[in-house]
Amino acid sequence: MMDWTDRHCRYFLRGFSPRVLLYTEMITSAAILRGDRQRLLGFDPEEHPLALQLGGSDPAQLAEAARIGEQAGFDEVNLNCGCPSDRVSAGAFGACLMHAPDLVAECVAAMRAAVRVPVTVKLRIGVVEAGRRSAMAAASGEYTDEDFARLLDFAGKVRGAGADALIVHARKAVLGGLSPKDNREVPPLRFDIVRRLRDALPGVPFVLNGGLRAAAAAAAELLWCDGVMLGREAYHRPQVLAELHAIAWPQDTWKAPSRLAMAERMAAYAAREMQRAGRLSTIARHALGLYAHAPGAREFRRTLSEGARGPGASAALFITAARQAEGLL
Ligand SMILES: Cc1cc2nc3c(=O)[nH]c(=O)nc-3n(C[C@H](O)[C@H](O)[C@H](O)COP(=O)(O)O)c2cc1C
Repeated sequence: MMDWTDRHCRYFLRGFSPRVLLYTEMITSAAILRGDRQRLLGFDPEEHPLALQLGGSDPAQLAEAARIGEQAGFDEVNLNCGCPSDRVSAGAFGACLMHAPDLVAECVAAMRAAVRVPVTVKLRIGVVEAGRRSAMAAASGEYTDEDFARLLDFAGKVRGAGADALIVHARKAVLGGLSPKDNREVPPLRFDIVRRLRDALPGVPFVLNGGLRAAAAAAAELLWCDGVMLGREAYHRPQVLAELHAIAWPQDTWKAPSRLAMAERMAAYAAREMQRAGRLSTIARHALGLYAHAPGAREFRRTLSEGARGPGASAALFITAARQAEGLL
């Protein structure tokens, strides 16, 4: 998730489960080819398993970016066909690619040929332009047979080109009218459409995304789909990852550490990063949800966010904030 799942965030989230698959922010293939690769692609080995999400629409460039990503150690390469932002659409990638199934199939085939790790695609159940009748209909949840035929054509072509799995954000994207934030809320979720798609394409692994919050509710969807992807809930209440881990891998002997232990882990990480000129505030901002929905949540957030910005802030602030939240100070 852009601006959220940077490497500090992923390191933090990894503490909640050794097995859930984490994703980078979307990184454009052009940036990877021309930019500072260490800054864009560098990560801590503890972040595995880790997927690289690419944005782009040039098959050769995407193939090269995927190859570079595999070499950098990523465990999966994903192509973003779901982002509705105007800036991304202007670059002719993200959700607007759902209008171009043949081009996306070409991109996927080129990426598939370039790497051995899984190549996956993130998509919406449809995409419409703002201002048209279809956009109003999208906002009301309407979904026609024609919409489904387009989705099936897209998914079938992408799978035919070699996509190993499809991750579906179960709502339409509205291009050119809604903000990215509204595009994650306004068109209603239609899990039934993802299920219909899965039934129409037997054997294709499907991961469901959109609005999943409680671990038990997310896990219930695993009765019919192959995986679930959580965005906002995992960021704001990362404990949900530990809850999902316990449900998904009940035999696993790994047990989630206490929140205090999690804070100690982050203090050690921040101390290492700060020696390499990292700033405490850029790490701490991702960890504010450590106590979300638990007693002391507000104290923890306040101590960490205010303290991290203060002069001379030290990595031990994670531990101070956690102790304060638990009434130990
Ligand atoms: C701040 C933010 C940034 C996002 N950036 C990306 C992104 O880079 N790539 C992507 O595929 N989806 C991105 N998304 C969308 C989420 O991956 C997800 O599809 C959406 O939030 C719905 O899932 P949720 O209800 O579990 O959050 C972003 C969402 C948020 C809130």
